Amino acid sequence: MRTVAAHDLEQTAKALVAPGKGILAADESTGTIKKRFDSIGVESTEENRRAYRDLLFTTEGAEEFISGVILYDETLRQSSADGTPFPELLSSKEIVPGIKVDLGAKPLAHAPGETITEGLDGLRERLPEYYELGARFTKWRAVIAIGAGLPSEYCVWTNAHALARFGALSQEAGLVPIIEPEVLMDGDHTIERSFDVTSRVLHGVFTELRDQRVHFEQMLLKPNMVLSGYDASEQADAAEVATQTLRCFYRHVPAAVPGVVFLSGGQSDEDATAHLNEMNASAPHPWELSFSYGRALQAPALKAWGGAEENVEAAQRAFYARARLNGLARSGSYSPDMEKVAA
Ligand code: 13P
Repeated sequence: MRTVAAHDLEQTAKALVAPGKGILAADESTGTIKKRFDSIGVESTEENRRAYRDLLFTTEGAEEFISGVILYDETLRQSSADGTPFPELLSSKEIVPGIKVDLGAKPLAHAPGETITEGLDGLRERLPEYYELGARFTKWRAVIAIGAGLPSEYCVWTNAHALARFGALSQEAGLVPIIEPEVLMDGDHTIERSFDVTSRVLHGVFTELRDQRVHFEQMLLKPNMVLSGYDASEQADAAEVATQTLRCFYRHVPAAVPGVVFLSGGQSDEDATAHLNEMNASAPHPWELSFSYGRALQAPALKAWGGAEENVEAAQRAFYARARLNGLARSGSYSPDMEKVAA
């Protein structure tokens, strides 16, 4: 077994939350990227997936705001148009390559409407190859839904247990785990309910992480923000989202964790940036507060691209603009009027 010094893992975790920067989540599974491509009328072939990721990764200057990229297994093995393997291309720009290692959320037995994330069997054997291919961090996503009587404690704790097993195995293999317990914001629940469920989930996750000896200094947390349900008639504003999210995290996330990298989870790209900005406006906090956005970083680029080679530059401009605004939100320096200039 390779031994990677604890120091290296801590350095990687810190580099991923360096000031002014955050993570691009480009680890859509083959099923998910098909959905994204369907929305712009592009066929999801291996070459189209490669070309789209190539466009993102070769965007000039994106490394000013992007510290790391989460890849999917297929993408980790693909190359840029000039033949440079993607992990090598990213590393050459001092962007840390990472890999999604879970195998997706599957129905949880005896728990209608709830899921458990799979992928622990054989994980220890898969990790060294990812390291050899250039990955320096990993991600595992657990999914928790809010509904009538949901989530059950059973769902919260089985997912927390799996996240911790993933975390310990990753650290053992010299990879920084990104622990992602996502409470979905679909539904008409209030922000108070979101606060309550997110608190229960973080309590379960940090209890399991501690019990399974995961080193907090060598991991990142990728959570949802505390929001009103997307269908709720009353929507909390950015100030309230920041207050409730911070209150929840101060109670549950140890200060030894170097960074919290939020998922966007279906918020509009502008909301995701504004919410992060609002939280950083009241810095300092015990941890860096950053982003690990998929949709909120990619939506304008995907639309501008539309699958056409002649739109690559426009798509790269759109990606750069979004990355820059989120980079500004890392220090509370973003304001919504910057959107017009960016457009
Ligand atoms: P979104 O920001 O689109 O929620 O994606 C982040 C992610 O990696 C989900 O696993």
